[in-house]
Amino acid sequence: MWDKRYSEPGYAFGTAPNDFVVSVADRIPAGRVLCLGEGEGRNAVYLAKRGHEVVAVDQSPVGLAKARELAESGGVRLETVQADLADFEIARELKRHIHEGRYHQGRSAVVQVLGFKQNTRETD
Ligand SMILES: C[S@@+](CC[C@H](N)C(=O)[O-])C[C@H]1O[C@@H](n2cnc3c(N)ncnc32)[C@H](O)[C@@H]1O
Repeated sequence: MWDKRYSEPGYAFGTAPNDFVVSVADRIPAGRVLCLGEGEGRNAVYLAKRGHEVVAVDQSPVGLAKARELAESGGVRLETVQADLADFEIARELKRHIHEGRYHQGRSAVVQVLGFKQNTRETD
């Protein structure tokens, strides 16, 4: 379903970040951000432009390809992971941060909750 929607021209939710992400951006600690259900990357790219190292997870390869394109055109880098969140081990991702010593550097991982309807600019 999402692959089909993301195959359409343009960006389904636009390229601007959603209002919620913008409203909390100043409170996200520097470092890595894990964006779940990231789709075409508008929020991930926004956070990458603010200096975060962003890992974007989504089930849609089409959406993630567009997320990488959006990142490239914005001059930032994204790590993308195609996964079904039903199977995705968030704990393993968080452990990666710990093993890399990020917590010792005072950095934190932040999880962006799957896009809620009220936080997106959906028109339908
Ligand atoms: C409403 S869209 C929001 C996309 C993005 N967060 C945004 O605000 O632009 C929901 C996204 O969640 C993804 N998604 C839904 N269920 C998922 C699952 N089980 N595993 C991974 N991704 C999922 C879809 O592929 C889609 O990209």
